[in-house]
Amino acid sequence: MPHALITGANRGLGLEHTKQLLSRGWTITAAVRDPAGAKDLKALDPGDGRLRIEAYDASDLGAASALKARVTGPVDIVFANAGMMHRDGFGSGASEEFIDSMRVNALAPLALAEAFADQVAASQMKVIALQSSRMGSIADNDSGGMYAYRASKAALNAVGKSLSNDLKAKGVVVLVLHPGWVRTDMGGPGGNLTVTESVEAPLDLIARANPAMSGRFFHSNGQDLPW
Ligand SMILES: NC(=O)c1ccc[n+]([C@@H]2O[C@H](COP(=O)([O-])OP(=O)(O)OC[C@H]3O[C@@H](n4cnc5c(N)ncnc54)[C@H](OP(=O)(O)O)[C@@H]3O)[C@@H](O)[C@H]2O)c1
Repeated sequence: MPHALITGANRGLGLEHTKQLLSRGWTITAAVRDPAGAKDLKALDPGDGRLRIEAYDASDLGAASALKARVTGPVDIVFANAGMMHRDGFGSGASEEFIDSMRVNALAPLALAEAFADQVAASQMKVIALQSSRMGSIADNDSGGMYAYRASKAALNAVGKSLSNDLKAKGVVVLVLHPGWVRTDMGGPGGNLTVTESVEAPLDLIARANPAMSGRFFHSNGQDLPW
C-alpha cells in the first residue's frame, strides 16, 4: 500500500488529506508539532498500524533529518503542508515573524525534500508536493501587504522549481500546489471551499502526477498559476 508523509497533519488541510488517504487504504506518517495534543488526528486511527504519528516542528532546521531517522522504507508522497501565516502590512513587514515564516514555509519543505528524496525516489509514485499559495505568486500580487507570507511562499515556489530540476534524474516529480481558499483556521470563515471539498482535487492532481507536471505551480483545479 502507498505511504504518504504529511506535515501539519493535525488540523485543517493536513488532517483532511490524512483522513481521505487513510480511507483509501494508504499508510500515513503524520508529522505534527504536538503528537500528545493531536486528538482529531488520533481519532482517525484505523488501529491497524497505518497511521504513524511523529513529532516534527518545522521551525527546527534539524527536524527533517531527525524525522528521516524514524521513517523507514519508500515514501510515495512527501507532502510539505505545514505552514504559518503572519498577517503584516506596510510598516510592520520587517519583523521576526518574517524570518519565522521563511523557516517554516520555505526552509522546512526544502529540508524535508533533501532528507527524503531517496525514499521518495525508491517509491512507486515518487511525488514531493509543496503546499504553496497563490499569495506567493509575484505576478498575481495586486493588493500588496502580507510580506512575510507572500515572500515565504514565493521562496517556497523557487525551492520547488529547483527541486524539480535537481531531482529529475531520480524520477521524482515536484508539484507546487495552491489549494484554493479553504475554510480552515488559517483560511478563515470566508473561504469558498470546505476542507472536504478542497482535498479531492489536489489528491487527483497528485494521483496523476507525471514528469511533465514537475516544477509547475498548480491551482487545485488543475490550472497552471503564474509565478
Ligand atoms: N486555507 C487556505 O485557504 C490556504 C490557502 C493557500 C494555502 N494554504 C496553505 O495550506 C497549508 C495548510 O493550511 P491550513 O489552511 O490547513 O491551515 P491551519 O488549519 O492553520 O493548519 C496549519 C497547520 O500547519 C501546522 N504548523 C504550523 N507551524 C508549524 C510548525 N512550526 N511545525 C509543524 N507544524 C506547523 C499547524 O500545526 P499546529 O496545530 O501545531 O499549529 C497545522 O497543522 C499551509 O501551508 C497554508 O499556507 C492554505
